[in-house]
Amino acid sequence: MRLKAAFLYGIFLAVTAQRVPYTSTKQKNIAVPSPPDPEPIEIIELPLPPVTPDETEGGCTRKINPHGTGCIGATASNLLSGNFLPDGDHVTASLVFTGAPAAPDPASIYNGLHLIIIRANGTNFPNGDPWKCITCGVPADQQYGLTSTMDYQYPQAFTDGTRVLAGAYIIDCGTAQLASPKCTPDKVHIYPIRWNITPNGNGSGGAIRELRKHPDDVHLSFNAMSYTTGTIAQYAYFARLQFNPAPTTGTPLTPRYDLVNVTLLYDPTGETPLSANGSHLTINRQSISVGEARGLSGLGDQIDYLGFPAESCNVDIFGANLKTGEVTRVTYGPEYVGPMDTSSDGKWVVIMDTTTSDRMMFLAGMRGVPPLVDTLITGAISSIRNNGHRRFFQPWLFERYGARDHKDSRNYQGQQINAGGDSHPGSVSDPLWNGGADPRFSLDGTKIAYFQLLVQTPDCGGSNPLPCPNSTEPGHRTERLMMATLSSREPIPWAPMDPVSDTVPWGQPYVPGSAPPDQALVPYGNFTLTGQVSGHAKVSFVANSAGTTLETVLATYYNYSDDGDNFIMGTEKVSTSYPNMTLIHVDWFSDLHSTGISKSSKLTSPGGFYFDIDINNNKFYANGTLTTTVDGVVYRQPENAT
Ligand SMILES: *[C@@H]1O[C@H](CO)[C@@H](O)[C@H](O)[C@H]1NC(C)=O
Ligand SMILES: *[C@@H]1O[C@H](CO)[C@@H](O)[C@H](O)[C@H]1NC(C)=O
Ligand SMILES: *[C@@H]1O[C@H](CO)[C@@H](O)[C@H](O)[C@H]1NC(C)=O
Ligand SMILES: *[C@@H]1O[C@H](CO)[C@@H](O)[C@H](O)[C@H]1NC(C)=O
Ligand SMILES: *[C@@H]1O[C@H](CO)[C@@H](O)[C@H](O)[C@H]1NC(C)=O
Ligand SMILES: *[C@@H]1O[C@H](CO)[C@@H](O)[C@H](O)[C@H]1NC(C)=O
Ligand SMILES: *[C@@H]1O[C@H](CO)[C@@H](O)[C@H](O)[C@H]1NC(C)=O
Ligand SMILES: *[C@@H]1O[C@H](CO)[C@@H](O)[C@H](O)[C@H]1NC(C)=O
Ligand SMILES: *[C@@H]1O[C@H](CO)[C@@H](O)[C@H](O)[C@H]1NC(C)=O
Repeated sequence: MRLKAAFLYGIFLAVTAQRVPYTSTKQKNIAVPSPPDPEPIEIIELPLPPVTPDETEGGCTRKINPHGTGCIGATASNLLSGNFLPDGDHVTASLVFTGAPAAPDPASIYNGLHLIIIRANGTNFPNGDPWKCITCGVPADQQYGLTSTMDYQYPQAFTDGTRVLAGAYIIDCGTAQLASPKCTPDKVHIYPIRWNITPNGNGSGGAIRELRKHPDDVHLSFNAMSYTTGTIAQYAYFARLQFNPAPTTGTPLTPRYDLVNVTLLYDPTGETPLSANGSHLTINRQSISVGEARGLSGLGDQIDYLGFPAESCNVDIFGANLKTGEVTRVTYGPEYVGPMDTSSDGKWVVIMDTTTSDRMMFLAGMRGVPPLVDTLITGAISSIRNNGHRRFFQPWLFERYGARDHKDSRNYQGQQINAGGDSHPGSVSDPLWNGGADPRFSLDGTKIAYFQLLVQTPDCGGSNPLPCPNSTEPGHRTERLMMATLSSREPIPWAPMDPVSDTVPWGQPYVPGSAPPDQALVPYGNFTLTGQVSGHAKVSFVANSAGTTLETVLATYYNYSDDGDNFIMGTEKVSTSYPNMTLIHVDWFSDLHSTGISKSSKLTSPGGFYFDIDINNNKFYANGTLTTTVDGVVYRQPENAT
């Protein structure tokens, strides 16, 4: 098996050549308001169960938790926070309880991975705890098809307050509100979500990941890996959730949710990101290139995804309108962005990105370079965003205008949510506490929940080896749940929405058992790319010696400009090879210069720059250097991992 050359966030789906031209509905030149001024943001930390230093059976004593309602470990609670319940007073989270006493002690149920809800308004539940475990003590015969490898990732409460999507499960309290004393363990059912992938409906269903609920509570988006063509690729889908109380085919044969009316988020008649006509190469900015679906916008009209870059080495989120297929660029910053959420009125976005670390600036600091070498290296450069387990994410808030490619707004990146404070150890702005997925708005748009992880040895980052900090949190835990209040905002009036259409007109209806579409990269050969404003680039896409996959991209720029802001000169040559399925080796030669709104250069050391990165462990090992300089500010590559 061989890795496909172009992949993103781990894996990227590149789409086939030879398409019917696509008519863009995007309006240029629409009036875009000036970027908003920064606003007041208050941040507090939300309470979590107490930490037990003794994680063995019975280690969570009544001394540590007098209520007998569970403990977590200091370093491995696997905390993942989710969204708010519709009342705005509770945040969902999943975590691992540890140290419970053996049965029949009533506290024995606080063991292992569970879904909890946490009070976010400073009050407690009737038992005196600020949290309530929803799944602890659920009778075994109400946990359908659960396996020991279950996960409750990205918990997302439905707007009815009675159900939560977590991992590939729906946790349901019947008619009781999750936060109400009426929601007791005997009322809770845990249903698996099944994606049928066989023509006759048999089998256990396909593996699905990164599920994101649509605001209509009926649809969701998800991603799935495919290995059918001897390569790893990821595809994104949109589907309807349909409760099936008594299935007759497929496993598990228990009450479950089936995914029906599944659409592959791939436009079989649309443009590829890059296409050639004769010797002319075109970049298609309206191409729908869904590398990984990241969720559905607050109004539910748009699928947001990590897409093929608009500028070289700059990983961004794009949105495609579910009905029209119109593509808008959601983020512009040069740094890596991944997790995101949109407010319920569709107007505001919260993201996690690496901006505060400048980690990716050596790659993407030079702006306006067209995405050519990216056909080879999007997966490799995406993997540099982390140092092993260390992330560099902080939360940012910005107003959503897909049309913010309006010139005056291009440098608008919004506001870092946790910028306040002096960054002392343990403070809200301590850079050693890094964000996880996903930050989430309350339905009324006035609050944002997010969680953070403290860096831990050996991945603290910077010049290695670094001494890692000691946690200042209770029990020295290395995970914490935060809540930002946008204190100057009025609540957004919110009402349940009617379900959207099952049909995505531009997508491809999924037929169970069908193979995903064949993927093609760029055509091999020599091409000219004409700048939209000025100049041109000569581009070569060169196959490996067997002619089976793209191996080298060579680009020479002649005063090239797409935006009228940056004019690019010089050459770049990048080759990749795959020592194994997940390891990428990159050879890079760069001698790029730009003028315009900034004077920049992107230069490799004599002899070139080489690096290896494994997309599974995010450890960067380089020889030689790649250095980007923007108006005299020098951005160097990160230190090699240890
Ligand atoms: C806190 O939330 C609970 C549960 O929604 C609610 O009953 C209570 O009135 C809230 N208290 C305050 C002070 O907001
Ligand atoms: C599903 O049905 C097909 C066709 O009858 C059969 O080949 C396959 O083995 C079945 N798979 C399972 C898991 O039962
Ligand atoms: C959606 O799926 C249901 C159940 O499989 C089916 O009856 C219905 O015809 C489908 N609707 C569309 C628009 O495909
Ligand atoms: C390709 O180029 C030829 C010649 O310039 C032109 O006639 C044709 O319409 C182009 N095809 C497409 C799909 O743009
Ligand atoms: C963390 O605590 C340990 C044990 O108390 C101590 O040896 C170490 O120096 C501390 N590290 C830092 C960075 O303060
Ligand atoms: C592309 O151009 C290079 C020189 O720039 C040349 O060596 C090579 O043969 C050309 N390839 C094709 C397929 O024309
Ligand atoms: C690059 O193109 C711009 C716009 O056409 C022009 O103003 C500038 O003089 C050109 N620079 C060079 C070095 O050719
Ligand atoms: C690929 O090679 C790297 C480096 O030797 C190794 O760490 C990794 O486990 C390998 N991955 C696979 C899938 O073989
Ligand atoms: C870096 O150079 C050393 C010594 O030549 C070599 O052993 C190593 O494999 C190289 N690493 C990479 C990532 O090219």
